[in-house]
Amino acid sequence: MGFYTGVKDMEGCPLNLLLSREQIASIVKDLADQISKDYREKELVLVCILKGAFMFLSDLIRHLRLPVQIDFVRLASYGAGTKTSGRIEITKDIEISIKGKDVLIIEDIIDSGRTLQFLKDRLSLSNPRSVKICALLDKKARREVEIEADYLGKEIDNVFVVGYGIDFNETYRHLPEIYYITPGNQRKK
Ligand code: IMP
Ligand code: MG
Repeated sequence: MGFYTGVKDMEGCPLNLLLSREQIASIVKDLADQISKDYREKELVLVCILKGAFMFLSDLIRHLRLPVQIDFVRLASYGAGTKTSGRIEITKDIEISIKGKDVLIIEDIIDSGRTLQFLKDRLSLSNPRSVKICALLDKKARREVEIEADYLGKEIDNVFVVGYGIDFNETYRHLPEIYYITPGNQRKK
């Protein structure tokens, strides 16, 4: 069930549980174990995409068994609605040097793939040793460009999700579970 199941917001959107706290914790632990194994003896820098991935990052790093540096980027995409448009800009860049280091991008959800393609290309310009991607969720059916996560938590259907850092119009980020909003039910009271 999940604490917020059936809870409706001001717009009347019902929330349906997709991943419980326990399921998320197990996914995150598995990812951290793989990363800890693969990056042993490497100079790892995690680049977290704000804001959506902040909770994922904070849980993930607590399970890593290696020294790691962290930094953040904030990206803005321009276009209408929930769909990412072609134009993406960095509104907050990384501050530590990634030259010669192994970079792992930490993202909440891959949708069209455009955000990650942009960021991966952009970070590669600074000559890191490697740039890979770790994403919690992936809506593979929505992909518009060829990009895949090197570390993936879970593939999901084409539903709009919220919670665990992920928002709908800046709300729901605080929820400890991940919910999906029932399509078509928005605004029904
Ligand atoms: P992409 O560039 O199309 O892959 O978009 C990825 C970004 O879109 C993610 O980082 C999220 O910020 C946002 N996004 C995609 N799907 C959802 C969703 O279901 N809920 C909330 N945000 C989403
Ligand atoms: Mg995001």
